[in-house]
Amino acid sequence: MQAIRMSEPGGPEVLILEQVPDPVPGPGEVVVTLRAAALNRRDVFVRKGVAKVPLPLTPGSDGAGIVSAVGQGVTGVSEGDEVVILPSLAWGDDQRAPGPGFRILGGPDQGTYAEQIVIPAANVFPRPARLSWHEAAALPLAGLTAWRALSTRARMHPGETVLVLGIGGGVATFALHIAKAAGCRVVVTSSSDEKLERAAALGADAGINYRTAGDDWPAAVKEVIGGGVDVVVDSVGSTWAGSIDACAPGGRVVVFGGTGGGKVEMMVRPVTMGQVSLLGTTMGSPAEFRQLLEAVDTQSWVPVIDSVRPLADAAAAHEREEAGLHFGKLVLDCG
Ligand SMILES: NC(=O)c1ccc[n+]([C@@H]2O[C@H](COP(=O)([O-])OP(=O)(O)OC[C@H]3O[C@@H](n4cnc5c(N)ncnc54)[C@H](OP(=O)(O)O)[C@@H]3O)[C@@H](O)[C@H]2O)c1
Repeated sequence: MQAIRMSEPGGPEVLILEQVPDPVPGPGEVVVTLRAAALNRRDVFVRKGVAKVPLPLTPGSDGAGIVSAVGQGVTGVSEGDEVVILPSLAWGDDQRAPGPGFRILGGPDQGTYAEQIVIPAANVFPRPARLSWHEAAALPLAGLTAWRALSTRARMHPGETVLVLGIGGGVATFALHIAKAAGCRVVVTSSSDEKLERAAALGADAGINYRTAGDDWPAAVKEVIGGGVDVVVDSVGSTWAGSIDACAPGGRVVVFGGTGGGKVEMMVRPVTMGQVSLLGTTMGSPAEFRQLLEAVDTQSWVPVIDSVRPLADAAAAHEREEAGLHFGKLVLDCG
């Protein structure tokens, strides 16, 4: 089969299409012939060596396809099943946090930028019937992260106001859909007026351009909605202080990313006086993935696809993701 391989960290040019041996399922595993894979910001961090993983590697956490081989002892999954892949490996039994063996598909484990993948049978779930292959592949990592962040960690409820930072991002677009479907009012930020317009078309109630607002973006958010927000979805990291400032008293800031940097300096007082909760989260458990798939079955939104490229053009997709030009998910068609 063909797969995108990287043997060293570097720019998009380190992602090379190669011929590699077909995977064979071990006990408890299945082989999925992939129809599509999708990018996450994590893939850029892996490619650049920011996230340290053993090389050579086939990157990629997201994928959907058809089960083409089944290992010994697998029950409940058969050849021909149309599946979507859960990229949380070995989450464990504790719903509060992943266990010590937790890993994310696509480093250290071989990922989805390939024609086929071998994966534990426990990590394949029926493809949501109403999603196309490209939409299904776009769902897992970002959809699950947004689901756990808002539903499990922030415990949003109808009528609350949710602020989503950087709406062009993959997780952010899922957060918008999930919060709107839960009956929340959603305000978003972006570096681009065009992305704000696209978010409005998806149901965002208000938008602030964080580039033109500068350091005053939290005040601009409060002004446009007439007060502080109940929940902030912050994947940026360097924005924590601003997210806390944007909160109404008792607000919750749910955090899972460091796109803007991995180190934060901020004042203690706005957190204590504002009674603000800072809630860390990471992807999600198999139980939460099931909840997400049920939501997809019963709700009407679909993952936002920025663009689709052939598997061989993974490097071009990385360039676009890294430059932050995208709105939603970049998808690779695996054939
Ligand atoms: N811990 C976990 O389990 C987990 C899971 C998923 C993602 N993450 C992390 O979450 C982050 C987002 O992931 P992703 O895949 O959704 O990334 P992505 O698609 O590349 O989106 C990144 C977005 O961040 C926004 N952004 C950058 N700087 C900003 C700033 N100063 N203020 C507001 N927004 C800003 C931009 O939005 P605009 O284009 O609209 O300006 C950009 O499109 C990454 O750091 C990723 O590693 C963590």
